[in-house]
Amino acid sequence: MLRKPLAALVLAAAALAVAAPALAGNGGFAPVPPQSPNAERITTTYWVILAFTGAIFVLVEGALIYFIVRYRRRGRPIDQEGPQIRGHNRLELAWTIAPVVILAIIGTVVFYELPGIQDVPKASAAGPRLEIHVEGRQFYWNFRYPNGVIAVDRLRVPVNRVVRLEVTAPTYDVIHSWWVPALGGKIDAIPGKVNETWFQVDKPGLYRGQCAELCGIQHAAMLNAVEVLPQAEYDRWIEEQAGEQQNPRGETALGRATYREVCAKCHGFRREGLIGPALTEATVANTEALKQLLAEGRGAMPPVGRDWDKAQVDALIAHLQAGSQGGG
Ligand code: CUA
Repeated sequence: MLRKPLAALVLAAAALAVAAPALAGNGGFAPVPPQSPNAERITTTYWVILAFTGAIFVLVEGALIYFIVRYRRRGRPIDQEGPQIRGHNRLELAWTIAPVVILAIIGTVVFYELPGIQDVPKASAAGPRLEIHVEGRQFYWNFRYPNGVIAVDRLRVPVNRVVRLEVTAPTYDVIHSWWVPALGGKIDAIPGKVNETWFQVDKPGLYRGQCAELCGIQHAAMLNAVEVLPQAEYDRWIEEQAGEQQNPRGETALGRATYREVCAKCHGFRREGLIGPALTEATVANTEALKQLLAEGRGAMPPVGRDWDKAQVDALIAHLQAGSQGGG
């Protein structure tokens, strides 16, 4: 009697163990491979908690199925009572002590890992930490580097450096949430409040994320990415950007990125209109009206460009006006 359900249970557990890695790889059930020390600690915590909760799940659901089969009615009259059992000291002690021990282990692991997740290291072997100001806005991320360089949605950083992010949102915007899963946990971008998070990546590459707080109609389009570059490549890029943003001549990378990440999400990549109206030649040609539109918004359009640096406003307008002559 006992053998068959137990065998079924063992088989089911074995099948789950075989299927789990496949599910983890394809189904997105497991965290993405961590690429930063804080993300590694979050992943460790995840697996420790999953081990206990997974074992408890199999035990409880297995016992449930076993009892359903083992003690089924088998034609007994419905009002016949089963044997009356009262008290079992050892069993009761066991189910009191076991959860206490499990919670103590999970608590210990979490409090051991937590400082390495939260506390930003002062520096790394590659040099002092890089401080980036991150602003979440409807529906883009604006970054400011220590030398004043501005970037939108894609953050470029050097390899092996501790990067500290000061994450916030303007007081007239809404709450967003910064999250690049491979580089650590979520951190909210709250209007008027500054939160901090950090990462350090030892492998060049592109790490993608997504705003993780429902923030309005284009929340799904509010993507973010961190591009980790070899040091020399990063130095070249940041210098080039500083030069171009301080002394712009015609169209710039900042202007293109600002149009693509701030305007196009609502007005279309070719200004054809999407959830926002098409941008006409007349709108684009009127510099003063454009500046006012950016600063004040209109109707459903948020003031996407209020408090921007002059460099970013000018870069966007130069891009729009160059495009209206050139077509794209
Ligand atoms: Cu910003 Cu969702």
